[in-house]
Amino acid sequence: MDAVRIYGGNRLCGQTTIQGSKNASLPILAATLLIEGTCEIENCPDISDVYHMQRLLTSLGCSVEREGMLVRVNTEGLSECDMPSDSVGVMRSSIMLLGALLARAGSVCMEYPGGCVIGARPIGLHLQSLRRMGVVIEEQPQGFCAEVTRLKGAVFRLPFVSVGVTENLLLAAVLAEGVTVIEPAAREPEIQALCDFLNLAGARIEGRGSDRLVIHGVEKLRPVRFRVPADRIVAGTYLCACMCTGGSVFLQDAPVQDMESVLEHARRMGASIDCAEDGILVNGRAHAGRICVLRTGCYPEFPTDLQSPFMVAMALSGCRGQIEETVFENRFRIVPELAKMGADICIQGNTAYIDGCRRLRGAIVHAQELRGGAALVTAALAAEGTSIVTNRHYIDRGYEDLVLRLRELGAAIELA
Ligand code: EPZ
Repeated sequence: MDAVRIYGGNRLCGQTTIQGSKNASLPILAATLLIEGTCEIENCPDISDVYHMQRLLTSLGCSVEREGMLVRVNTEGLSECDMPSDSVGVMRSSIMLLGALLARAGSVCMEYPGGCVIGARPIGLHLQSLRRMGVVIEEQPQGFCAEVTRLKGAVFRLPFVSVGVTENLLLAAVLAEGVTVIEPAAREPEIQALCDFLNLAGARIEGRGSDRLVIHGVEKLRPVRFRVPADRIVAGTYLCACMCTGGSVFLQDAPVQDMESVLEHARRMGASIDCAEDGILVNGRAHAGRICVLRTGCYPEFPTDLQSPFMVAMALSGCRGQIEETVFENRFRIVPELAKMGADICIQGNTAYIDGCRRLRGAIVHAQELRGGAALVTAALAAEGTSIVTNRHYIDRGYEDLVLRLRELGAAIELA
């Protein structure tokens, strides 16, 4: 079955190494299309979203090989510009290939990447921005074809912050004619890693980590070897699992510098957090009676991708909690599933109110998307009795060997 079975109640104890970042790996793999030759990407997580991105690059004529956590991409054979619809359907992140393919090959045809349960996730701002760089885009009912002779730099005053649009414009701008300004640019650590990769390859990007990026177009980029940073969202998920079970876990390689808001909220909920050079030691359950108010937002505010795991930690921690979700319009999908386990959460608009004074009981629950699925697993780890979390494939999109790693930390968990 595509599920996990969990016997709740074990405290998580020990140490686990945090995998490379999914949301840094995907745009960096897309960026290899800008470079003729072979790039070597280290610490590339072995998860299904990365597998689908590798397949997409192969379908475009690149040769892609994985050796442990190293992925080699040779783009000399790049010959296709039409992305296979089955991959686009599975991989929303295929939209990231748009800017890179236009910069390298000058044309792309692809289906519209679907939305998902957390929101409609339209791509209008992507297309509108690329048109301003000289791209001619012909839209059809199912998808679009885009063409450009030479991308031209432009000054962008974006109507809102978008991680994906910032990434696409970066990939389109590094080889474009002239200067491009992106403001407000997304500041996420994954964007900073993409800037580091591109600058190492010879791009000229200024303003890394700020909300204003200035890109001076260059003629060519050179092949590089680059290490993907650790995944702050995966680290935050394990931190929640430790808080939920009242355990003690060392998160080896956790990117402390990228987790300030997450660690601050965990401390406010009563967990003890000790940061070291090479990771984070998390101790104990949050203390009852604390009031926790959380609002998601663009980096460095609290990350929307950890909203569901923290909701579970609040529901289990004796905190009366309140979560305001400001990024996606439908990201409370786990609430009905948590209610099956006895949680008391009510939603008003984009705010969830959590009464954390309840024990949770095991139940059969259904993952509906990546981060919600991981959150249901953390709830089951602490619930009384047995739980089954179905649709494990959602979780496999972003978490490497979750069952094995949790079992190594003492969880009673198995594939079902
Ligand atoms: C990236 O998605 C991440 N995905 C998401 O992580 C993350 O939640 C999100 O950024 C916000 O941090 C990857 O990096 C692969 P956005 P992205 O463009 O780029 C709206 C995970 O679990 N919007 O910053 O799609 C959009 O609908 C995933 O790992 C438009 O309206 O996010 C959303 O409401 C989930 N029109 C808001 O902007 C557009 O043209 C922010 O989205 C583009 C976006």
